[in-house]
Amino acid sequence: MEINFTYIALCFSFFSVAGWVLEAVYRGLAGRKLVNPGLLHGPYLPIYGTGAVALVLVISAMEGHGLLVKAPAYMAVTTGLELVAGTAALRFLGLRLWDYSDQRLNYRGIICLKFSIYWMLLAFAFERFILPPYMELAAMIPPAVAHIAAIAIPSIMAMDLLAVFIKRFMSMASGQKTEADARFAETARPILNLPAVKKLEDFNHHRGKTRLAHVTEVAYISFLVGQKLSLDCDAIIKGALLHDLFYYDWLREGPRLHGFRHHRIALENARKTTSLSKKEEDIIKKHMWPLTVIPPRYMESLVVSVVDTFCSTRDYLTGIKKQKHGKNASGENRI
Ligand SMILES: [Fe+2]
Ligand SMILES: [Fe+2]
Repeated sequence: MEINFTYIALCFSFFSVAGWVLEAVYRGLAGRKLVNPGLLHGPYLPIYGTGAVALVLVISAMEGHGLLVKAPAYMAVTTGLELVAGTAALRFLGLRLWDYSDQRLNYRGIICLKFSIYWMLLAFAFERFILPPYMELAAMIPPAVAHIAAIAIPSIMAMDLLAVFIKRFMSMASGQKTEADARFAETARPILNLPAVKKLEDFNHHRGKTRLAHVTEVAYISFLVGQKLSLDCDAIIKGALLHDLFYYDWLREGPRLHGFRHHRIALENARKTTSLSKKEEDIIKKHMWPLTVIPPRYMESLVVSVVDTFCSTRDYLTGIKKQKHGKNASGENRI
């Protein structure tokens, strides 16, 4: 089978779910109760999917080579992955997912020689026993279904991961929260008091939420993330509060291809409303990235773009849930 985006994304999705099932069954049998073995809400463990993709790539690159070449390559890839995942979990989530401190020849408790040998052996087992039946199974999926699944499943996992990251970023002691809220209110007040911004209250943005509520939420969450990452929070708050400064109901009116064009409209309106720094302009201009191809110039712009995507997707999904609930509730009443 040709290794392309669909193949990689399907492989990632399949082994993420398979890894979750494996761990859930193992831990369920050990503890005699069903537990979610991952940090995410859904039934997947992306570390397994990432590992499988890394192995597929290295196996295909090493095709035709002997054991002596394959063994160090497999060991380097699996250990490298373990090092990146362990370090990222410690750095960004403050979590030590495993600890090899009591093992000989370990590095910061994240990797050690004994487990690197185990991973290498597992990589050979994966090549021999797991990959061939998986490839047969994947070949049976109709191409259209494979394309949809390859986009949908990793997207759901990415949103789930983002939700967990944002929740972790936002968790803080109550004293710290009061302090952060006061700083946000102080910086946001002059912008929220501008008549051009107040007007956003009159526009519905996402399923029952006004545009003013949306930009305020994006600004607040981006500010909390920015604080954790020691970024320019004043620019984040101002840019985020102005990022959707347009005055039409985008579901019913406004320019065609709104998603690709409204960042320019918002920027023009923001320039007429207040003075903007280069960074604040970039935050507004790039908030739809990657839909608008040119990437953000500043970390602050990237944070606002990611938080905006998260808030919009969550509002959309919550709206669908509410709609379904409404339908169910009315169905119950009829019975
Ligand atoms: Fe927008
Ligand atoms: Fe937005």
